[in-house]
Amino acid sequence: MPSLSVFGAQWGDEGKGKIIDLLSSDVDCVVRYQGGANAGHTVIAGGEKYVLHLIPSGILHPGRLNLIGNGLSVDPIALLEEIEGLRARGVKVDGTNLRLSGAAHVIFEHHRKMDGLSEVWLGDGRIGTTGRGIGPCYADKASRTGLRISDLLDPERCRKRLKAALAEKNAVMAKVHNADVFDFEDQLQRYVALGDKLRDFVGDVGHEVREAYKAGKKVLFEGAQGFLLDIDHGTYPYVTSSNTGTNGIPAGVGFPVTGIDRSVGIAKAYCTRVGEGPFPTEDHGKEGQMIRDAGHEYGATTGRPRRCGWFDALAMRYSMELNGAAGFVMTNLDVLTGFPELRCAVAYNIDGQRTETYPAGQDLAGIEPVYESMPGWTEDITAVRKYEDLPQNARNYVEWVQKLVGVKVLMLSVGPDRKQVIPLGL
Ligand code: GDP
Ligand code: IMO
Ligand code: MG
Repeated sequence: MPSLSVFGAQWGDEGKGKIIDLLSSDVDCVVRYQGGANAGHTVIAGGEKYVLHLIPSGILHPGRLNLIGNGLSVDPIALLEEIEGLRARGVKVDGTNLRLSGAAHVIFEHHRKMDGLSEVWLGDGRIGTTGRGIGPCYADKASRTGLRISDLLDPERCRKRLKAALAEKNAVMAKVHNADVFDFEDQLQRYVALGDKLRDFVGDVGHEVREAYKAGKKVLFEGAQGFLLDIDHGTYPYVTSSNTGTNGIPAGVGFPVTGIDRSVGIAKAYCTRVGEGPFPTEDHGKEGQMIRDAGHEYGATTGRPRRCGWFDALAMRYSMELNGAAGFVMTNLDVLTGFPELRCAVAYNIDGQRTETYPAGQDLAGIEPVYESMPGWTEDITAVRKYEDLPQNARNYVEWVQKLVGVKVLMLSVGPDRKQVIPLGL
């Protein structure tokens, strides 16, 4: 398929980085279309660990074009740090293999600061954000007071737009939050200098992707976060500020909907979530901790412990349906080794009523999952590369979940390394 959307189907951290890196060996372009440095995509290659935040996960493959679309909120400081970090490890990153849309929005220091201040203000109602300035930057985009990367490249335009934007932010920081403010001239100089350093990377990314697609090149769209964190379809307000699924691609790249040939989700064999918000299948007990320990479930961006729980077939069906997914990659199957019994939510009880349909748009707090279970396995499966070599109970689990979700499992991942996969048609 010339174009493929690969998105997170749960609450993020499903292993997108690993799978996208793997698929990158066979594509020409890898394109990010939303989010920002709130993402942490882990790739383990040749025994080396890389955590990518803004740069697409194709960057480790020479000859691939990596593109950052207009739909992202880009922190220039974070991006330059990431570029330097990769270069220091011998990875080539320059304007020939990394392109940045001039229309992507800029995260300033005041956005990061406001992210933290708003969370304090929200108190018990806080979102548990990554603190990367994502929400405030997207809010400015929608308010039409944001600055774009191309604005940084034109000092006069930058002066005009930043002056207006920062005056209001400073007033809010001082008067509402009683916090220190930012010096306009200092910020202007700083961000114009950052823009200068990014100049060689900047271009019309949408045009580049459309041309590549028309020329028959293979394009891979890399989702960040997970579909249940989608601003419209996730567990609002405990979501991120962008459209995280295949739905984000047309707007976040400048690419026609009809050009998206295939959509594939990534989901763990269980569920995790970082930050606040409802998580019906969360396990607060011993087994949740066992999953956290076995899966090293700590955030790749913030280091926070991830909340852990069981696979949720309703939420997954919802993700698959709204994204038109042909199937999904099931990651971290190895983490479930050693559990005597594996649970999966097959329905929810809402006020005593059973439903098998994910209640989109409702507050999930207080919902009771209805579980069914399957016996587990004890064998180490991290070296298995063929489906038939998996223990019978592992195959039973995969097939059971596949049936409940209603779309195909297209690949299994049995460890963090690139090589630790069992292909099933992807
Ligand atoms: P992403 O944000 O979706 O790219 O996922 P993260 O990188 O934040 O988190 C996934 C974590 O699981 C990382 O530490 C990966 O190295 C690791 N990982 C990916 N696939 C597997 C797998 O199949 N098994 C195990 N045990 N770990 C995996
Ligand atoms: P990847 O791409 C997991 C969560 C935060 C918080 C909410 C809002 O690595 O899967 P934000 O900083 O975006 O305003 O935070 O979204 N969140 C993620 N959780 N993985 C991510 O990215 C996330 N990016 C944001 O924890 O609950
Ligand atoms: Mg992550």
